[in-house]
Amino acid sequence: MQHTGFEQRLASVAAAVEARLQAVLADAPRPGETERPGRLTAAMRHAVLAGGKRLRPFLVVETARLFGAGEEIDALGAAAALECVHCYSLVHDDLPSMDDDDLRRGQPTVHKAFDEATAILAGDALLTLAFDLMADDAVHPDPGVRLALVRDLARAAGLGGMVGGQMLDLAAEGRFAGGAPLALDADAVKRLQALKTGALIRFACEAGARLAGAGADDRARMVRYGEILGLAFQLADDLLDVIGDAATVGKATAKDAAAGKGTLVSLMGVDAARGTLQSLVTEAGMLLEPYGPAAEVLTATAAFVATRRR
Ligand code: IPE
Ligand code: IPE
Ligand code: MG
Ligand code: MG
Ligand code: MG
Repeated sequence: MQHTGFEQRLASVAAAVEARLQAVLADAPRPGETERPGRLTAAMRHAVLAGGKRLRPFLVVETARLFGAGEEIDALGAAAALECVHCYSLVHDDLPSMDDDDLRRGQPTVHKAFDEATAILAGDALLTLAFDLMADDAVHPDPGVRLALVRDLARAAGLGGMVGGQMLDLAAEGRFAGGAPLALDADAVKRLQALKTGALIRFACEAGARLAGAGADDRARMVRYGEILGLAFQLADDLLDVIGDAATVGKATAKDAAAGKGTLVSLMGVDAARGTLQSLVTEAGMLLEPYGPAAEVLTATAAFVATRRR
């Protein structure tokens, strides 16, 4: 697939997901709500609607498409739910007590644009909104599928997923051990990243397959694809922290080394990291081979993840 073709497809899914997110984050209460505090809604909109690549929702939509999800399935609804979890994770990641960042997606972070308490609550409300959206009847006609998605999302987001990974990440900076960063080896870094970043990306790929009713083998293949993509994604993020500039990346760079964070880039160097990214793209391509041209967009996604500049 041509690079421009891929970019157009990503942009078109991103626009569709954004329209959904805009609708659910309107000022007016949704059915079942009586009131929406204006400042909190505004902070949530700031967190969600101020840019973002929308990679995770894109993966939900494209994996659902690969396995032939029909009209009766609302992959965009599930995708929007996942993006809410991702955006909440960024709001909390940027808090002064976490990474203490002022810039996100080229805009002031939520605690800068609003205040810290509002940012914490906006994150909390986005996380819970995600489960509201995922449980919606429209997502899938079979309540069993919706329940499985809710459960899988909870696992991907929580203790054994993203939140657990964030805890390991802070611990690796030496925060709970008197300040000296832990000397993690490459395997330990990969395990940490599989949680903090990999879990949501893997969920995205499995969710699309689940929505479309793919069989166990196909689902397992999508899980593996998601794991490879997650690893590549965080490796690229760590690389951008070293070689990127804040204006392009949309967030502060050169922060990982300053925090003494052990990343694969700090362990192996920039050139080897680039080589590893290339091997991950090849591995993703091999996994997708059985699906032929139908999986072109997922192959292109792996290349995009590895070479992205923001
Ligand atoms: C940033 O994720 C956080 C990581 C897991 C590295 P993205 O790079 O997907 O952020 P947005 O959504 O495009 O801003
Ligand atoms: C955070 O990783 C991943 C999340 C779960 C939010 P980073 O802390 O490296 O993400 P950025 O660089 O701030 O986006
Ligand atoms: Mg962080
Ligand atoms: Mg951060
Ligand atoms: Mg980073």
